This record gives sequence, C-alpha cells and structure tokens, in this order.
Amino acid sequence: MNLSKAYKEFEKLMEKIKIFEGISGKLLWDQQTYMPKKGVYILSKENELIESYIHEIITSPRTGRLIEKLESNIENLDDYQRANVREMKRIYERNVKVPTSLVKKMSNATTKGYEIWVRAKKRSDFSEFEPQLEKIIDLKVKYANFIDPDKNPYEVLIEGYEPFVELDDMRRIFSELKRELTPFISKVIDSESIVDKGFLKRTYSTKKQTELCKFLAKKIGYDFDRGRLDETVHPFTSGAGPSDMRITTWFDVHDLRKSIFATIHEAGHGIYEQGILEDQMFTLVGSPRSLGVHESQSRLYENNIGRSKEFWKLFFPKVKETFPRQLRKYNVEDFYEFVNMVKPSFIRVLADELTYNLHILLRFETEDDVINGRMKVKDIPELWNEKMEEYLGIIPKNDRDGALQDVHWSIGYFGYFPTYTIGNVLAAQIFETMNKKIKVREKIREGNFQEIKGWLNKNIHEKGSLYTTDELIKKATGKKLGTNDFLKYVKRKYGEIYGI
Ligand code: CO
Repeated sequence: MNLSKAYKEFEKLMEKIKIFEGISGKLLWDQQTYMPKKGVYILSKENELIESYIHEIITSPRTGRLIEKLESNIENLDDYQRANVREMKRIYERNVKVPTSLVKKMSNATTKGYEIWVRAKKRSDFSEFEPQLEKIIDLKVKYANFIDPDKNPYEVLIEGYEPFVELDDMRRIFSELKRELTPFISKVIDSESIVDKGFLKRTYSTKKQTELCKFLAKKIGYDFDRGRLDETVHPFTSGAGPSDMRITTWFDVHDLRKSIFATIHEAGHGIYEQGILEDQMFTLVGSPRSLGVHESQSRLYENNIGRSKEFWKLFFPKVKETFPRQLRKYNVEDFYEFVNMVKPSFIRVLADELTYNLHILLRFETEDDVINGRMKVKDIPELWNEKMEEYLGIIPKNDRDGALQDVHWSIGYFGYFPTYTIGNVLAAQIFETMNKKIKVREKIREGNFQEIKGWLNKNIHEKGSLYTTDELIKKATGKKLGTNDFLKYVKRKYGEIYGI
C-alpha cells in the first residue's frame, strides 16, 4: 500500500472518530438541557454504543499498522499530517496498553464510587466514601503503570487531560502560586475595604437576564448562527464541531454575576471551538489542544476581559438599561468592585478569581500525595482542613463543605483539577501578550472584540492540536507557561481594589 493511500485510510478513521465524538457531544447537551427525565436509560445505551465504536476504531490492529506505516514515512508527511499521526499514536497507546479487564473494573468502581459519594456527601461522612475511594485510586495507579511504568503515575493521569505536561512544571507553578498568593490573600481579607452587597438584595428576572447574556455573548464574538444559549444545572459547552457548538448558563434571580459570568465563560469555550478550522474539523488536529488551553480561553473572556474595568465601562450602561429600577443608585465603579469581590469560601465552584487557584493547589497536593503513597486516604479530611486554614484562613465545618464537595474523585478524574489552574495562569499570559501586540485593553474599551477574537483565532484556535501544548504556548506568547503574568495581574488589580 502506498503512502497516500495509507493516509487516505487514516483520514477516514479520524473522520469516524470525530463524527462519533460529535454525536456524543450533542447527546450530552440533550441530557443536560431538554431531555425528559425518563430518557436517561435510552441515552445511556446510546452513549455506551458510541463509546464502544470509538474504542474499537482507536484500538483496532489496523489502526496500529497504519500508525506504523505512516511513522516510517514521516519525512514525507506535512506538518498537519505528522501532528495527526502523533495525536492518533498517543490515544492509541493510552488505549491498547491497558487490559480490557482493568478498564471494566475501573468503570464498575467509578459507577459505584459515584453512588457512594452522593450518599456520603448527603450524610457529610467521608469515612463512608473512604474504602471505595481507596479502590479507585488503587486501580488508577495500576492503569497509569500499564500506560507508562517508568513515569510518575500522577503525571500519566494528568496527561489524560493535559498531554505533554510535566509533573515537575506543575509542582513549580503551584509552589510559586502558594508562596505569592497566600500572604497576598490574607492582606486582602484584612483590608478595610467594603464592597457594596446591595446588588444582592434586588430581584432580576431570568427573562431579562437571558436577553442580557445573549447580548454580551454576541458582542464578544460568540456566533449564534453556529451555536445557541440554553439553561442548565451546571453550565458547560458542547456540540459537534465549529459549526455547531452550544453554550449553557444558569441563573440566580438575586445575583446577576451567576448568569453573566457563566455565559461569558462558556462563550469563551464556545469561541475556541467555533474557531477550529472547518477543513480540519474531521481530523485530530482540528480538536482543541487540551483542557488547560480550553480553560485558558474561557477564563480569558470571563476574568481578564469580562471582569475588567474597561469591559464594564462599556457594558454597565446596558446592564442598567436592562434593570433600571434595581440599579438606579449604582454606578460602574460599584459594579466593578461587586463583580471582583474577594471572599474566601469553602466551595471551589463559588471561589473568586483570586482564591480559586488555592482550591486547586489543595487538590493538586492531595492527589500528588495519595497517588504517590505519601498520604493515606483516611487522612484526607484532616489534611484538607489544615490546608484550608493555611491557604484561605477558614476551616470547613463538615466533610460536605470539605473533602467531599467535588464529584471528580468519585468518578476517577484524578489529574483533572490542575487543568483549571493551567487555564487561569495561561489566560493571564495570553492577555499580556495580546496587550503588547494589539493593545487589548484599548480594544475592550472601544468594544472591538472582533480584533481580540481574530488574534486568538490565529494564534490559538486555528492551531487546534497542531502543536504540543508547550509549543503552542511558546509560539503564541513567546515563552514557556509561567506564573509571572498571572501574579502581576492579580496583584495589580486586587491591590488597587483593596488598597494594598
Ligand atoms: Co470551563
């Protein structure tokens, strides 16, 4: 078989994978939005079938042979083709190296894990969850060892979400954040500055909020001809590719921040996906690079752009026009401070931009320690509380608000949390670069979001998975991922708001 024929066949495989993934993306959307309650059984059968198709394609001996054939002719392939082969090889190896029996065991352990976690959380009792969590961790370590016995198992697990990342880099990033943020946050907490919370005493209809959210998403560049906005229980972005990528949001009739920032966040994810090149969409290169890079786009829009003073100078009049009675006595400064209020909380999903990464730090350290056998599962709640006190100065009263709050571990998502921080840190680095290249603050002030999106399209979105994460970041920002820009950004912004 000649090379071009082999590559044609390889393209067909990629196309099938991408189409199946698109179907499952739309199923997820359906499940989380309008699916009738009793539709869940059919949906789970559909999902199972699609997953088995994808798994079959990826792990088939034919795929292995094609990868080999293409790799042995790699010098005759162009950059896109090479990257496609690299990506396919990566997922092929992650799948074939793990025995099916272990995959089954993991799936059973996490199904059970989720049920037990729901119960344990309700009763706020970590010890009920502990034995099952031990089992899951044990299986996860085994799984990592099958994929690469020479690598730190935690690094292998992270790579499931953030390929090409090095554990040492992550440890460095987190220790820098810890060193710099912990003392800064305690200064913020001690400061006298008081934010007006009167905004929370008013009522804002969800109908009006929806209009406002659609207006903002459209303004910043989310394309409603290739997407839509709906309500859900926990916001997400899903769909089938650049021409059908849907976003969702949630509402609180007393707190405008909830819908506005969830919408801008998801619109950031949506803009990334819509920015994938259409002629690449059925290839592996035509996929977002990683969860961390994905989160960098949502955070960039949500925080660096969406919580900036320039942004609200531009849009607060619109908010006021939408809710004239409720916001009569407020000006843009009040609103800016309100949306940037810092308040340490027990719950990660409620955390503000400044304290958020310390919630992730705590989880990262815990995962790193339990997976590498330095910490026992039964000690998690106590160490959790100690770290909460050290980092944020508060101690949760129970396990529900502590070590049991997140679903991730119960479903086996070890190594997922760090991608949130990669996203936050990378967002600041990208914003700084854009500031130098296209004066992004000025663009926000002028409402020229087209140019911002254009820069991101060209430097991040259109690149898809062409490069490894490191390469992508270096090409886009001129340097390796680091904490400098993030720390400078938060210290400047919150230093100003809180007078420190
Ligand atoms: Co996100």
